[in-house]
Amino acid sequence: MTDARITVHTEASIDRIAPEVHGHFSEHLGRCIYGGIWHADSADEGGFREDTVSLLADLDLPVLRWPGGCFADDYHWEDGIGPQADRPRRRNLFWAQGPEEIPEESNAFGTDEFLEFCERIGTEPYLAANVGSGDPQEAANWVEYCNYDGDTELADRRRENGREEPYGVKYWGLGNENWGCGGQMTPEQYADEYRRFATYVGTMDNLMLDHDLELIACGFEQHEWNRRFLEKVNESPWGVDFPLDHLTLHHYYGRTISVAEADEDQYDRFLADALEMERHIERMAGAINAVATTRDIGVIIDEWGAWHTEATADNGLEQPGNVLDALSAAAVLDIFNDYSDVVTMTNIAQTVNVLQCLVETDETDAWARPTYRVFDLYAPHKGNEAVRTTVETPSRELADDRKLPLVGASASVGDDETYVTVTNLDCREDHAVELSLEGTRLDEGDVRAEILFADQDPAREVTADNADEFTAADLAVSTDGDSIEAELPPSTVAAISIR
Ligand code: AHR
Repeated sequence: MTDARITVHTEASIDRIAPEVHGHFSEHLGRCIYGGIWHADSADEGGFREDTVSLLADLDLPVLRWPGGCFADDYHWEDGIGPQADRPRRRNLFWAQGPEEIPEESNAFGTDEFLEFCERIGTEPYLAANVGSGDPQEAANWVEYCNYDGDTELADRRRENGREEPYGVKYWGLGNENWGCGGQMTPEQYADEYRRFATYVGTMDNLMLDHDLELIACGFEQHEWNRRFLEKVNESPWGVDFPLDHLTLHHYYGRTISVAEADEDQYDRFLADALEMERHIERMAGAINAVATTRDIGVIIDEWGAWHTEATADNGLEQPGNVLDALSAAAVLDIFNDYSDVVTMTNIAQTVNVLQCLVETDETDAWARPTYRVFDLYAPHKGNEAVRTTVETPSRELADDRKLPLVGASASVGDDETYVTVTNLDCREDHAVELSLEGTRLDEGDVRAEILFADQDPAREVTADNADEFTAADLAVSTDGDSIEAELPPSTVAAISIR
């Protein structure tokens, strides 16, 4: 018997799903860069990990944020350019690199290595400049080093370092969590700093007309902070032309549980925490609309994902990759589709080995985590037009008075298909789902469906040896011409494509 009904309103467009919504984040933390992307923290031994490059290139990441995170507000970019032997070792103030190693940064992986990495995997870079302990001139110089094509000392240094053409970096974050690790600032203080930095970095936009910079301010999950920041930053004499293109927040969930030890009630609460993303986007968009009435400022979620008890600073924030976390990512990506009119980019944390990474490595191998499979399954949404979707679903009452909707979905329309993704967030029961597309007759031959994680326990963890067991399988569906029916086992993610 059908217990969830999904209706796709194919004519009710929301907006184009920015491909950048499937973006990623990598920080100098634990084994993300050194050991994950780059072989070691010494260039003599290393270089890019080809296995990681190949997995990430296959996924076609649209954008990658770097170098942090909290590390960004302690990072001086000039430490990481030029001959490797001349680069200074520094303390990594925020992150221990692992219990037996000293928390130091070799600077072997710097700006040119990161930007080359982006080119190798075919992604757009997003650089986060140091506001907490840096100054506006340093940030402006970084833009000049990366993007300027003229005859200056900084442009020449880039050329001496092997890169003739400017990189054309478009996305520039000014600070990270400046309410916390990035300087413990009040919103008013950060607004003043942001204006100062944006003045000098923003000037680069005028100087380099072929590089259209997008400037990004870092907000907070406490929305009163965002409101105060926006009000203060808006006092600028620039008025509507003020260089602020996006405001971000970070949303992590699952901090109190280890999935391996959790029970089904805790799974439910974890998934409900992930779904809080919707409320954060709405509140952020509301604060922006109240202040910026005549212009677009996008919402970016530039750190998000599961963060569990296993991930501590001592182990470089490593935690196992499992089905439950991947399921939460699918539910969150559905939310991003529904808010494609305001969400301009998101960056799951973090790309390799850290937190809800997509790729995990050891000394010899790199492999895809279940969350990687979700991004792969959701990839056809990128660049499509998101359309309104109604989901009638049973829900479960949680002990904390929230309700967990057990089935979720989102849909988008591309050139020659409608693409619908569906989650069964119920870790206990199957759900029979009926899907219809408003005003569309359905022919079985036009429908293709796939499913992730059927018959997998939510706590099942990925290893180098079992990684291929998490790939998508065909999903059997039937249609009577008006609707499509499918049975979704517990904690699964499905994609249905209709030509
Ligand atoms: O992703 C790990 C850390 O989480 C980042 O450095 C910081 O921005 C956030 O608090």
